Amino acid sequence: METVVSGIRSTGNLHLGNYFGAIRNFVKMQHEHRCFFFIADYHSLTTHPTPGDLHRNVRQVLIEYLAAGIDPNAATLYIQSDVPEVTELYLLLNMNAYKGELERCTSFKEKIRKQPDNVNAGLLTYPVLMAADIIIHKASKVPVGKDQEQHLEMARTFANRFNRLYKTDYFPPPYAFNFDMELVKVPGLDGATKMGKSESEGNAIFLSDDPKAIKKKVMRATTDSGPERPGEEMSQPIENLFNLMRVVSSEDTLNHFLDAFNKATIRYGDLKKQLTEDMISFTKPLRERILELDADNQYLAKVARMGAEKARESAAKTVREVREIIGFKTF
Ligand code: TYM
Repeated sequence: METVVSGIRSTGNLHLGNYFGAIRNFVKMQHEHRCFFFIADYHSLTTHPTPGDLHRNVRQVLIEYLAAGIDPNAATLYIQSDVPEVTELYLLLNMNAYKGELERCTSFKEKIRKQPDNVNAGLLTYPVLMAADIIIHKASKVPVGKDQEQHLEMARTFANRFNRLYKTDYFPPPYAFNFDMELVKVPGLDGATKMGKSESEGNAIFLSDDPKAIKKKVMRATTDSGPERPGEEMSQPIENLFNLMRVVSSEDTLNHFLDAFNKATIRYGDLKKQLTEDMISFTKPLRERILELDADNQYLAKVARMGAEKARESAAKTVREVREIIGFKTF
């Protein structure tokens, strides 16, 4: 049995990228490993949400975790800010995280580009907080999508650096992980290579989208003028549609359309219609559970309480031991 940790930022509703990159793994692993899954609400503060939005988003992610099949009796499901021990470990790790390496991080450079008026220290040290999240439970496996690979590399660096500095093997090095294949990157519908919450309108299919919304987004998805002769290369937007089909449709369906593309007989309207249908049947049961859970505050409160208790116990033990290793002593 290994220890598994992963989190999702509470900055909006979850989409198919989150599901296939991360949650699908969580559900598969929860009964076989010691699993901790959390809602990264401290991380969401880098974009300065209002108190109302902050709470609403945390609640929504909790609902969607449960709707997607996380069993709170099997895995520890908790809200990051319910475990303040994380912030102490974050502070301790910050002492050995260097400006240069943090500035070189791709996600930081991207944020500078996207929000030049809000380049706060929380953004710079975002990977350190992530490392704290992971190693506070001494996790070795971290199920994430491809976009988190570099953050995991940094988490490993910080864990190994701590071990070296204090001549210990206290923290196991954590690795990015995907259950049955390489790390996943689900593309967007707007031609962008990544589905994301903060991308353009229409880029993402949310787990809570109703059939009408899904249809509208898929029908509007970017395409090109179509292959003119057999064997032509695919453009990025078309490759995206096929990659989306790869995650929600059957192999037969995928092969049928691939074949049509290769023979240059494909009609993108047919492909979109099929993709819409398959996305709707995939999300329908999720959406139903989301609506049910949304009406059950008492249950949500119970899950959050139970998760906080279990997560804190594990986190407090680590922080106690780390303090000792560093040399904090009680008189
Ligand atoms: P976040 O909230 O952006 O994404 C949550 C998870 O979903 C995955 N994901 C994707 N996978 C495939 N294709 C996509 N288009 C796609 N979009 C998102 C992400 O890879 C991630 O696994 N920093 C993290 C949250 C976090 C965390 C952690 C994760 C905080 N602390 C500790 C793991 C361990 C984030 O912002 O993910």
